[in-house]
Amino acid sequence: MDSRIKAMFEQADRALQQPGRNLSIHPFVQGVANGTLSRDQVRVWGEQTYLYVDAVVPWIGVAYGNCDNAEARGHIWESLLEEATGQLSGTKPHPELMADFAEAMGSPRAKLSSNEALPGTRAMLNHWELSLCHRHWTEGLAGMGYGGERQIPVTFRKVSDGLKEHYGLDDKARLFFEMHIKADEGHGDESQKVVAIGNPSDAGLKRVYNTILGTAEALWTCWMAFETAPSQR
Ligand SMILES: [Fe+2]
Repeated sequence: MDSRIKAMFEQADRALQQPGRNLSIHPFVQGVANGTLSRDQVRVWGEQTYLYVDAVVPWIGVAYGNCDNAEARGHIWESLLEEATGQLSGTKPHPELMADFAEAMGSPRAKLSSNEALPGTRAMLNHWELSLCHRHWTEGLAGMGYGGERQIPVTFRKVSDGLKEHYGLDDKARLFFEMHIKADEGHGDESQKVVAIGNPSDAGLKRVYNTILGTAEALWTCWMAFETAPSQR
């Protein structure tokens, strides 16, 4: 890998350790791991997360269509196929997995698509639509893969264990988390490959860096949605 690209990812690694970006220490994650959040707080997090998990699927399709490199398109295709069908992990469409979780927390399944996005969720939706549909594919893919998915295995391990231990959720209700713990394992390395293929200019690389941090920050803010629900257990 080009030394400029390597240096950018090392800088991003350091920046992603900070609170406000490091999802493994997010208050929602800690609250579920310790069982201190109310069921309503966990449910609201699921409802808001559903909105972007559902919206992102066609946006990955737009990134696929806008990508001018066959090798990079292969990576995007795998991501789209898995999000839209769950075929690679042998599960089901990821929005359906998130709906199983939200339903188990008491949210009516049929109303999941019509819930109002909270401000942090709307910002997350805007960020992802912009980076996947309207920016160079290196930016959209690295944002999603390196700013988001790369953090997921450690983060969702805590969430899934907490949901089992403190909220009594069964394997079906936790499959969204368990599946992503496995599926997202290699996504950090894949992001690095995709950026190396795209070989952006210095200015383009700076935009990739900003999108990686921006994705982590948008997820952090979005996940604070739980604070809007009553905290009494
Ligand atoms: Fe997913």
